[in-house]
Order: sequence, then C-alpha cells, then structure tokens
Amino acid sequence: MQRENWTSKLGFILAASGSAIGLGNIWRFPFVAGTNGGAIFLLIYLAAIIFIGYPVLVSEMTIGRKTERNPVGAFKKLAPDTPWWLVGGLGVLAGFVILSYYSVVAGWGLFYMLESVTGLAPGTDFAELFVGHISGTFSPIFWHFVFMLLTVSVIGAGVVNGIQRVVKILMPILFVLLVVLIFRSLTLEGAGAGLEFYLSPDFSQISLQTFNDAISQAFFTLSLGMGAMITYGSYLSQDESITDSAGYVLGFDTGIAILSGFAIFPAVFAFGLDPAAGPGLTFITLPAVFSQMPLGAFFGFLFFALLSIAALTSAISLLEVVVAYLVDEFEYPRKKTSYIIGFIIFLVGLPPVLGYSALSDFSFLGMDVLDTYDWIANFILLPTGGMLTAIFIGHYWGTDKAVEEANRNSMKVKVGNVYSLLIKYVAPIAIFVIMALTIFQTVTG
Ligand code: PHE
Ligand code: NA
Repeated sequence: MQRENWTSKLGFILAASGSAIGLGNIWRFPFVAGTNGGAIFLLIYLAAIIFIGYPVLVSEMTIGRKTERNPVGAFKKLAPDTPWWLVGGLGVLAGFVILSYYSVVAGWGLFYMLESVTGLAPGTDFAELFVGHISGTFSPIFWHFVFMLLTVSVIGAGVVNGIQRVVKILMPILFVLLVVLIFRSLTLEGAGAGLEFYLSPDFSQISLQTFNDAISQAFFTLSLGMGAMITYGSYLSQDESITDSAGYVLGFDTGIAILSGFAIFPAVFAFGLDPAAGPGLTFITLPAVFSQMPLGAFFGFLFFALLSIAALTSAISLLEVVVAYLVDEFEYPRKKTSYIIGFIIFLVGLPPVLGYSALSDFSFLGMDVLDTYDWIANFILLPTGGMLTAIFIGHYWGTDKAVEEANRNSMKVKVGNVYSLLIKYVAPIAIFVIMALTIFQTVTG
C-alpha cells in the first residue's frame, strides 16, 4: 500500500502545529508558569524550547521522514537487531497515558463550551463552578467519552482527510480570539500586577523545580519525546524541509503559549485569584473574563469550542502514534483498531476523572490521580524518550546523517555544528542531570 503523504508543505506544518498547539499551551503552560513564579519560568521555558526543544523536534521529524515508519518501526529500521526500538515502544506507552488524561481535561473544555452559553453571569463563583463540575461523576465522564469518540472518528478516517482539513481553518481563528481576550484581560482594573508577574522575573524563585517544569513543559508542548513527531514526519514528502517546518511549528506553538499567558495572568490578578492555583487556573480565570465581556456568552462558547478543537488535533496525534504502530507492525485494520484502542484509553482515563470524587483519597507524592498521570508522562516518559532520542542520533545513528536529512530543501534555517553539539551533549546531559537531581530530592525529601 502506498503510504499517505501530507498534500502540501502547508499541510505538514499545519498538522504538526495542530499536534503541538493544544491544552499544553492554553491549560498547562499558564498553570505551570503560575506555580513557578511567572516571569522566571517563562525565561527558562524559552531557553528549554530553543536549546532542547528545537533540536529534538528536528531529530524526531528526521527519524520519521528517513524511515517512513511509526516510532517502533523507525528505530528498528535505523538500528536493526538492537534494543533501540524500545524507545519507540516507550513513546507508544506515553501516547496511551497522555491521551487518557488529556481527554479528561479536553472534556472539561467541552463542558465549558456549553456552560458559556448559559452559566457565566458576572458574580458567579467560578472556582466553585469548576470544582463542582470536576467533582461530579456523570458529566465529566460523559464529556471525556464524547471527546474520545471525536478523536477516534478523525483517526479512523485516515491521516490526510482527517487531520489536515480540520487544522487549516481553525488555528487562525484561535489566534484572533486569543488577541480579543488579551485585550479584555489587559483592560480590567488591576491587570498591571498580572503583567508584572508574567514579565518581570524574580530570580529568587529559581529552583530545581523550575528547570524540571520548564523542560517537561517544552517536551509536552512540542509533542516531543514520544514519537508523535516521528510519526508525523513519516508522512512528510521528500521535497519539503524539516528545519524550516520545525521552525514554524515552534514559532506558532510558542506564540500561542505566550499569548495565553497574556490572556490569563492580568485577569488572575484583576480578579484576585491565585496564580499558583494549579490545573483549574484556565478554567476558573477565563470564564470570569468572559463574564465581564459584552457578548461574553458568544465569545466564551467560541473560545472553548476552539480550545476543544485545538485539543482534538493534539489528541489525534497521540492516538495516531499508537494506531500507526499497530497498523504498520501488525497490519491490523485502521478503523477497527482506532475504535478499540480509543475505548481502552477511555477506560484508562476513568481514574483521573474519579480522582475528584470516588477516588479523592488517592494521593501519590501529594498529587491526585490526574496530576499523577501528568507527572508520569511529563517528568518520566517524555524526558526519557527525548533524552534517548538525542543519544540515538548523537551517538548511534550519527549527527552527520541527521544534518544531511534535516537540511534537505531548507530555505530558511540550516542546522550544523550547534545542532550536533546540542543533540550530542547539551540536551541529554541537561535532561539527565535534572531528572537525577529531582529523583534524588524526592527520595531524600
Ligand atoms: N503538544 C500537545 C499540547 O501542547 C500535547 C501533546 C503531547 C500532543 C505529546 C502529542 C504528544 O497540548
Ligand atoms: Na503545545
């Protein structure tokens, strides 16, 4: 069977951006920044994106295009009869774990989409509304189910038709809407303190945790360390440039994250909320902003619809990793496999839902179930996957081969010695040291 290809350069950039831009930008970035002192986090995060994110992104796309395989098949092809395929296997596992709770959070987005139409009156206690929703049972499970169903139906339809079409139209609208939101947020009384929190770094807030969270967020937001970009790269035509495409993806993704911060932090301070509130931050703050806007119901609906769609285009890349693996390696039928895997992931996502109700006694290092899934994925699986990918390119396959493949047809960016240095030493050592210190700190309390 002829392998599908993205139908144009734009098609690939849009699809890869669709994978990158998602809850990671609008939900996870602000709350992680908020718990890490704001501006200082932003600074270290940007460094992580540039020095670790970009080279790993280029590396994954390169492995994908070179081999035209799913992550497991890709490592098998480049390193036959070695255990390197396990790195791909780790990615498939990460796809499973991430999607299971990603869908739960996306389900909150779907809930807020409808809630915006009726329930965002000024004076509502939005923290209470949020907690009320997540600590329910039927409603969050229902929306988690709906979201998984949407994901599965897109994946079942195939790569080009399913993924490419959705992304093309909606990402620009998301961008415009964020700008509108920023405008409202910045003009709220007391917004200035939020700007200061977000832009003026307090260096006394730096800790190991800041670095750890910044690197994890860099991986999560760029869809790295689990083979999503290997898989998407495997559908990239030979005529396109990897380094250029990676630059666009990184630019769009970082742009949306920074804009989300500008929409959220001024409002957090204007409403007297706590920037370190954690996973509820976006879902508590933005409805409050909408309640203060003319046509708030309309804008709220539109925004959460777009958030859900951004989440959908990321979710399909997570599921695609698992499905591409099963379809390529075992020749299972695509559609049926999508539905079965989707249902299993739905089930794996039930504990995170119930972590706010039936399983609220659960605690791991002080975290609830959803945070625990997030921790396993973002502090263990993604950085490990990213580190091993860097070591694979740097010390097994060879950066010279990677550079040649990555630069083919490049018009804007070319990689070379700096890339090689980052991939061989900087990225793997930074990740290793920070992970080791964190584990040491956790174990010794
Ligand atoms: N990058 C996505 C986001 O920011 C999440 C994601 C992680 C998608 C890993 C695919 C793989 O929301
Ligand atoms: Na992202």
